[in-house]
Amino acid sequence: MDQASGLRSRGGTPPEENPRAHLPRVISITSGKGGVGKTNVSANMAYVMATRFGLRVLVLDADLGLGNMDVLFNIRPKHTLQDVLMGNRSLPEILVQGPGGIQILPAASGVEEMTSLTPEQNLHLLEEFENLSTDLDVLLIDTGAGISENVLTFNLASRETIVVVTPEPTSRTDAFALMKVLFRRQPDKPFLFLANMVRDRQEGVGLFDLVSRVADSFLPGLSLSFAGHLPADPSLTQAVRSQRAIAEILPGAPFSKGMEQVVRTLLSRPPRMGGEGGIGLWMKRLTAAGAGSGE
Ligand SMILES: Nc1ncnc2c1ncn2[C@@H]1O[C@H](COP(=O)(O)OP(=O)(O)OP(=O)(O)O)[C@@H](O)[C@H]1O
Ligand SMILES: [Mg+2]
Repeated sequence: MDQASGLRSRGGTPPEENPRAHLPRVISITSGKGGVGKTNVSANMAYVMATRFGLRVLVLDADLGLGNMDVLFNIRPKHTLQDVLMGNRSLPEILVQGPGGIQILPAASGVEEMTSLTPEQNLHLLEEFENLSTDLDVLLIDTGAGISENVLTFNLASRETIVVVTPEPTSRTDAFALMKVLFRRQPDKPFLFLANMVRDRQEGVGLFDLVSRVADSFLPGLSLSFAGHLPADPSLTQAVRSQRAIAEILPGAPFSKGMEQVVRTLLSRPPRMGGEGGIGLWMKRLTAAGAGSGE
């Protein structure tokens, strides 16, 4: 059975009739300013992709700070990426099952080393990721905020990067600062703009226009497209408190509905392959970007 018919038989919509659709799409979710909603976006995007679109999704919790994803989903990982790097566990052994069949790769401990691996560790991890990738459609990476080397590296390695921006002026300016640094290092990198905590679509588009205009003036050539908006939704707080994804417990809530639309938009875009794609290439780029970070 091909992947598309597999997706249909699970009641989902195939992402594309693309001959290379077997390659997992690697999407990083990032921001300049902290606390703008990256982790909630990653978790709910994963849930919606899996349950409404029949995709097999792995979320990599790449935030070096407090591992948020496990708190959000009320899971307690026994092992982390650190155990894989030390050779004590295989990658599939450390994966944790989240709601709706999504898988979570707990990496808060070990993720920093991912960008500075020894050649042996690199090869080992590459093999582990490549084995995993045959069972995946999407790898979502929840990064930390800001312009630390680690955040930059994960974003540079990912072919698609979603920048989460809220109406707060500092969120806009910090998003711009982050895109500027990434653009300097990788001028052909396209960015997807996701407006979060907005009143309505109009406010989201307004925010996008503001940032686009500044980018047009100061970073000519930067590719920035609108991926959609997510409303400020008080019921999200309720879901966070009960440690569940809002898309799971309140599928009719404005945030959940908004996320469905965002995912639809995202999946209607052709994945950015450019000859090669998938996790193997992502790992290679991760290593290369990490190795180049001392320049
Ligand atoms: N659309 C929204 N409506 C209401 N509250 C929201 C929305 N998006 C995020 N929040 C709230 O904002 C807070 C921060 O969200 P989250 O932890 O997802 O941000 P983050 O960008 O991952 O933060 P960090 O940079 O610390 O990792 C949470 O309390 C969350 O409930
Ligand atoms: Mg977070």
